Amino acid sequence: MKKIMVLHGINLNMFGRRDPAQYGSTTLKEIDEELEKLAAELGVSIECYQTNHEGEMVEKVHQIHEEEVDAVVINAGAWTHYSYGLMDAMAILKVPVIEVHMSQVHSREEFRHFSIFSNIAKGQISGFGVRSYLLGLRVAVDIIMENGKEHS
Ligand code: DQA
Repeated sequence: MKKIMVLHGINLNMFGRRDPAQYGSTTLKEIDEELEKLAAELGVSIECYQTNHEGEMVEKVHQIHEEEVDAVVINAGAWTHYSYGLMDAMAILKVPVIEVHMSQVHSREEFRHFSIFSNIAKGQISGFGVRSYLLGLRVAVDIIMENGKEHS
């Protein structure tokens, strides 16, 4: 079974309690539950991981090299805009990376318009709330299946 790693970065454990105008009222636990449901429908397995510590996230990304992971969906939170360390770790990955954001980062403060993952990610989905994650998972599965066909 194909496996997708879902990475949630800094402050995202506070979804549901943080700035509802931007992020709504859904908690991270509820997001992960919706992702699990969709993964079951799509016939893939997922692992969801959250940390507020950059070094821990980098080590989780390193672990992906040792594991059978077929794609990564990442919302790195504010790290998206400045973490060269996380970018370097992600750049080592050979599997497709999909970047997602709950809020529409391009309509917010200017520092949020830049993403360190723009050279690494296949694409970015931003502004659809929980649906950004669900769309990210769907497109990750599509890309895996497409790559599988090319290689068969
Ligand atoms: C976010 C957008 C980031 O700019 C912000 O720092 C976050 C959340 C989002 O999901 O919209 O923490 O990644």
